[in-house]
Amino acid sequence: MAGWAHQRLFIMGKAWPTLENSLKGDRQKSMMQNSIIILQSAENQQTLTITPPNTGLSLQGTLNIPGDKSISHRALMLGAIAEGETVIEGLLLGEDPRSTAACFRAMGAKISPLNSESVTVQGIGLGKLQEPLDVLNAGNSGTTMRLMLGLLASHPDRLFCVTGDASLRSRPMSRVIKPLQEMGANIWGRNDNSLAPLAIQGQNLKPIHYHSPIASAQVKSCILLAGLMTDGKTTVTEPALSRDHSERMLQAFGANLEVDSATHSVTINGHPKLTGQKVIVPGDISSAAFWLVAASIVEGSELLIENVGINPTRIGVLEALKMMDADITLENERLITGEPVADLRVKSCQLKGCTIEGDIIPRLIDEIPILAVAAIFAEGKTIIKDAAELRVKESDRLAVMASELSKMGANITELPDGLEITGGTPLNGAEVDSYTDHRIAMSLAIAALTAKGKTMINRAEAAAISYPEFVTTLQEVCGDKG
Ligand code: S3P
Repeated sequence: MAGWAHQRLFIMGKAWPTLENSLKGDRQKSMMQNSIIILQSAENQQTLTITPPNTGLSLQGTLNIPGDKSISHRALMLGAIAEGETVIEGLLLGEDPRSTAACFRAMGAKISPLNSESVTVQGIGLGKLQEPLDVLNAGNSGTTMRLMLGLLASHPDRLFCVTGDASLRSRPMSRVIKPLQEMGANIWGRNDNSLAPLAIQGQNLKPIHYHSPIASAQVKSCILLAGLMTDGKTTVTEPALSRDHSERMLQAFGANLEVDSATHSVTINGHPKLTGQKVIVPGDISSAAFWLVAASIVEGSELLIENVGINPTRIGVLEALKMMDADITLENERLITGEPVADLRVKSCQLKGCTIEGDIIPRLIDEIPILAVAAIFAEGKTIIKDAAELRVKESDRLAVMASELSKMGANITELPDGLEITGGTPLNGAEVDSYTDHRIAMSLAIAALTAKGKTMINRAEAAAISYPEFVTTLQEVCGDKG
């Protein structure tokens, strides 16, 4: 294929040597032929080709996963608006936190380059974000745009414009714009003020008690961040508990919060003194989930995934896999800068189908694509309900998982608010697409490990949004030398 470069891995913005360049002649040919995993690049797109051997593939090893995406965004944002220095260890060096860092740099925060395990943020203080000279670009990141809106709307006398990539520009922003407008915010956007690009004229806001119709940490966090600069008490009540990283980190930085766990309500008192902190970001359980499922479904596998965040609002995936009879044990449980962490050991075993619905959904919202893959290998039927939110993620994850896994032969039906999967049908390799959604790209790669023949995943570069080292780690656990 002219113009394609095999195995060119882009890590931290750097083009690594191509396998073609580093291997010569027959040796190159035979290694490429024996490779399970090949990444090919052309212009800005990558195709990941996975051809598992007919027998004998098992996943082995001890791995570290990248830092938690949600915690990484919050550490950068709170670091930027606090007084003094924040040192972040283990920050996710993916595309999404890079978007957050770029936005806050444009508003005056000094953030060291995102290329090492320790990132330093020199905070500028609450209410001191500067009016940026250009449009803020949140890239692919819903968390960047929605959380940042709460801060921008509450900065009087400053004008901000925010945009994102094609996926983000199609995602609903009214869920945060509406409550911010109730607080007095001035925000304009396309499609009746619901889509980015958005223009925000900062204001002094008034406190509200917002009853959110959806259990969304992005909505909750947006309102709490707006409440930082608002006189009095701002409260958010959500129908079920969503991830609580904002609550934990705001308190650690000095904000005064009242949490009522019985009613899923959080109240923030305006104008706290926020002070820079040291934040150690645990590994992202949403990234660990790919390996939990991979090792469960590839016979003879055993993986130890170290340093995984097990915040109770995030471990729905562990609970769902337990319902499916997965063999997962938690080792070395500990607390690191206010977040619970453990090492997870997973061994392959026969899974069984289950129903995933109700209050657990917000606690595993990002893991539904990979749980759908697990369900293909489970005995009986798995039903996922109450998950209509998946239609407005980086892609319509219900439609995309149903269409792409069907191409591989899975017995999967799209429901209005979920998926129904009957396990036990063997998968065949196929040409599939990530729809530029990182979690779809990685879920399809794990499904491909068990398929007969070759699977090609187009637009696989999306994985770098949350997991830049995904392909390298996949090669390592497969014992694939490339
Ligand atoms: C996130 C919250 C979730 C999740 C997203 C990250 C966050 O979105 O899907 O990947 O960091 O707050 P919602 O709050 O919209 O469910």
